[in-house]
Amino acid sequence: MINLQKCENVFKEKFNQGDYRIFFSPGRINLIGEHTDYNGGNVFPCAITFGTYAIAQKNNDGIVRVYSMNFEEKGIIEFSLEDLDYKKNDDWANYPKGMIRYLIEDGYGINSGMDILFYGNIPNGAGLSSSASIELATGVVLEGLFNLEINRIDLVRVGKRVENNFIGVNSGIMDQFAIGMGKASNGILLDCQTLEYSYAPIKLSNHNIIIMNTNKRRELADSKYNERRSECEEALSRLQKETKIISLGELTEESFEKYKNVIDNDILIKRAKHAVYENVRTIKALKELKQGNLLAFGKLMNESHISLRDDYEVTGKELDTLAEAAWKQPGVVGARMTGAGFGGCAIAIVEKEHTDNFINEVGRIYKEAIGYEAAFYVANIGDGAREITQEVV
Ligand code: GLA
Repeated sequence: MINLQKCENVFKEKFNQGDYRIFFSPGRINLIGEHTDYNGGNVFPCAITFGTYAIAQKNNDGIVRVYSMNFEEKGIIEFSLEDLDYKKNDDWANYPKGMIRYLIEDGYGINSGMDILFYGNIPNGAGLSSSASIELATGVVLEGLFNLEINRIDLVRVGKRVENNFIGVNSGIMDQFAIGMGKASNGILLDCQTLEYSYAPIKLSNHNIIIMNTNKRRELADSKYNERRSECEEALSRLQKETKIISLGELTEESFEKYKNVIDNDILIKRAKHAVYENVRTIKALKELKQGNLLAFGKLMNESHISLRDDYEVTGKELDTLAEAAWKQPGVVGARMTGAGFGGCAIAIVEKEHTDNFINEVGRIYKEAIGYEAAFYVANIGDGAREITQEVV
């Protein structure tokens, strides 16, 4: 992993050093409540201390120059404030470009060019929201350099608009919200229908949260993701023939069982069942956590994975291998995939003293079954996107 000093040196090398400032935007894990955000349900994510560093300064020539230490081969990508259209060739730089464009459209005074270096220590494509992390990193850079006062939830919404309308991925609001609103040592219970939220301390006492990376890129992720979304929309519109709901998140398990037959399609019933049950599970999980019942919380995490595997069908062999191997290890409270699925990462809550053994065993089983290695990191729950003066740990 590259340290901040090295990033500053590269910044000075790439851009003539002026008066730069440093920002950090986290990645996120979702503890429970998966594929519920775009179904008007609840999610329970948190920001982590892995994320994206951004070093930035204004320049005087109306040109935005961005450089990523994760995509060195792309070099410095430049665009003018006069032309902020999406361009395929601009590759990852479309994320910062989209943020600049939409904030200008919203009337914020961004009136000069700038130089920004990005470095992310979350692997991209690992399902820890590297893209939302870059969006919010750009957001706080712009706030800082141009003295903008942007309501944080508005900034979160701009990030989502960039993802949906500029980049073209039809994702929900969870990632940007977790990254924009994260708070150290806390999870965020967010009702994605109303955007009401509350923080809940994650008291793990003698446990770690371990991130398990399949190292499988989420290649089909975007198309399959959009497919699941439309399956849920179709199920909802069929249910609306019998009920007055505006989202699947409004149904209880009982009302779902009562009305499900109007959906009249086995696949769609399974998809909607996941959305409804997972939403209920999320509320239950939070209740258990608040009462200090970590074991009960972990059991709900396991059930969440099973539902994502069997009903929502977004796990795949790699994530199943990790979660199922994790369940069998001593000291494990619970394990599940996190994020969109189809590769990416899973998480497990593991007793600290069993952590080394856990990583060795799950790693061994994974390599044997899949043929290449998984990667493991201990996650710390950190604050949301912000200006910083020192490295984030
Ligand atoms: C991705 C999306 C989120 C959410 C999750 C699944 O991370 O960006 O909006 O839908 O998948 O819970």
